[in-house]
Amino acid sequence: MEVVIRQNYNEMSKLAAQMVAELLNTKPNAVLGMATGSTPLGLYQELVRMYKQGQLDFSRVMTFNLDEYVGLPGNHPQSYAYFMQENFFRHVNVPAQNINVPSGTTSNYPAFCDWYEKRIAECGGIDLQILGIGSDGHIAFNEPTSSLSSRTRLKTLSKQTIDDNARFFERREDVPVYAITMGVGTILEARQLLLVASGKSKASAIAQAVEGPVTSMVTASALQLHRDATVIVDEDAASELTMREYYEFIYAAKPAAPRA
Ligand code: GLP
Repeated sequence: MEVVIRQNYNEMSKLAAQMVAELLNTKPNAVLGMATGSTPLGLYQELVRMYKQGQLDFSRVMTFNLDEYVGLPGNHPQSYAYFMQENFFRHVNVPAQNINVPSGTTSNYPAFCDWYEKRIAECGGIDLQILGIGSDGHIAFNEPTSSLSSRTRLKTLSKQTIDDNARFFERREDVPVYAITMGVGTILEARQLLLVASGKSKASAIAQAVEGPVTSMVTASALQLHRDATVIVDEDAASELTMREYYEFIYAAKPAAPRA
């Protein structure tokens, strides 16, 4: 796993966007795995800026989102489908038929989950999966104790995740209790993983994911099993890492390292 520490949220976002841009420049028809949450917003804004300046083209890109709340239709302001539309898709040229977000309103979840997995495979698999991290160490909605081999399925959200995400809803009771999410196994099959984290509230989760044991209690620790995983953190999110100097030494010595 490569750990890169940037001074602040903007620098973290710029470097992450640069990695996505590098992929699109070498593979214009790449399959991108998209994430929601407040952390990747800066990364999306940077991609939108590059697109508007003519540096990026998404016309052949295919996207798969990680997860969605169960019970929220795509036009609900707190749904992840709506979030993606507002914060990314409506600003760039990904063709509508190339956008895939799990359905939070299907009548048959097991069938939909099977279809989602098959669709990813049919498209050749995900080239680069963008990830955030929950304060309990989850990726997508793979809450503690999720199998590290899990596939797309329904998950019950943990109390901590409901508390964390309540800020986006009018009342805590409005936060859905269930979500449909790619599994850890699904995520690990992406050819490249890119996790972004910012702020003190993520410091403990990042330290556990990067330097702790691989455990289903911290599903982000499964990134340690991946051969091409990059974790980009800002100073605050890096504050509990013990091997910081080593990560900085490796990054500084890397000749072809992208620079934000
Ligand atoms: C939700 C999402 C995750 C995301 C996490 C952190 O739980 N399902 O994909 O990583 O929130 O969100 P934020 O970046 O807002 O802290």
